[in-house]
Amino acid sequence: MKVAVVGATGLVGNVMLKVLEERNFPVDELLLVASERSVGKKIDFKGIPHEVISIPAAIEEKPDIALFSAGGGTSLEWAPKFAEIGTTVIDNSSAWRMDRSKKLIVPEINARELTKEDKIIANPNCSTIQMVMALAPLHNKYKIKRVVVSTYQSVSGTGVKAVEQLENEIVGKKGDMAYHYPIHKNAIPHCDVFEENGYTKEEMKLVRETQKILGDKTIAVTATAVRIPTAGGHSEAVNVEFENDFNLDEVRSILNNTDGVTIQDNLDVNVYPMPMYANGKDDVFVGRIRRDTSQPNSLNLWVVSDNLRKGAATNTVQIAEYLVNNNLV
Ligand SMILES: NC(=O)c1ccc[n+]([C@@H]2O[C@H](COP(=O)([O-])OP(=O)(O)OC[C@H]3O[C@@H](n4cnc5c(N)ncnc54)[C@H](OP(=O)(O)O)[C@@H]3O)[C@@H](O)[C@H]2O)c1
Repeated sequence: MKVAVVGATGLVGNVMLKVLEERNFPVDELLLVASERSVGKKIDFKGIPHEVISIPAAIEEKPDIALFSAGGGTSLEWAPKFAEIGTTVIDNSSAWRMDRSKKLIVPEINARELTKEDKIIANPNCSTIQMVMALAPLHNKYKIKRVVVSTYQSVSGTGVKAVEQLENEIVGKKGDMAYHYPIHKNAIPHCDVFEENGYTKEEMKLVRETQKILGDKTIAVTATAVRIPTAGGHSEAVNVEFENDFNLDEVRSILNNTDGVTIQDNLDVNVYPMPMYANGKDDVFVGRIRRDTSQPNSLNLWVVSDNLRKGAATNTVQIAEYLVNNNLV
């Protein structure tokens, strides 16, 4: 496989390289791609330095697969140009997720939808991926009616500049601001831009993408997304109302038997998911599993995952693995 990583100098791109290496993805030739600012920089892959090239230079190389994490504008402009020359693009931005002609894939849930004809495949938003990983198996069993989710999102979800803002603020150093407000010792209820309905785009991604991935437009979702001064992963308080009643032991057993989900839930010894445990891991961690005593058929969960891993890079590489293993590329 000739593989291009577009956005290789960014946070997601960096983890993408690690994940490709760790999972021993069959890379015969690797093209590291970023903006003109980074052309000529060297980045190591499997101990060998690779020079960063521009997008037009990467297109000339006709890669088999291009893993994109370089922002929505770059994807909108360049993903179709890669697709035209036969490259399969897996895109991390929000550019194509809600496009009806593009698939939105979490491999454990809906990779079977993929065909050879899919030349631009969308990777869902990080907050959505971890939530649907926990919800999909429960939806199959009890049918979800409504979800109320509040997120506590890591600064790494915004990119390199936001991580630098937090690091600068911790040591009292002046620098560029990725957010409108300080993030250190703060909680900002504003992730991505506001839409006309008063919700942020991040909140509406949780609504729209969940319905698309689970293939059920009747699922009602309402979200509040909050940025907090953590690195290492996003956390979510998820309240779910099902059509049918459930048994808590059965819920645990279903989650326990779901690939990519790990239960961390032992109150006697203070075990529950936290970003400090999720950091650097591929799984989605679920804990604080309890019945919502305020209304029938309802459940509360606390869901944590490394947004740069399962929320971005790992999910993308898993999609690429599925394509390769099923001769779809
Ligand atoms: N962070 C997350 O948890 C997360 C999760 C899911 C999806 N995503 C999505 O993944 C994308 C990247 O996120 P990130 O956190 O890695 O951001 P980041 O750290 O800011 O990195 C951005 C990357 O995009 C490249 N880039 C920017 N403009 C470009 C252009 N015009 N042409 C080519 N390359 C360009 C940058 O190259 P230079 O270094 O040369 O500027 C850099 O490699 C975004 O679309 C984001 O929404 C992020």
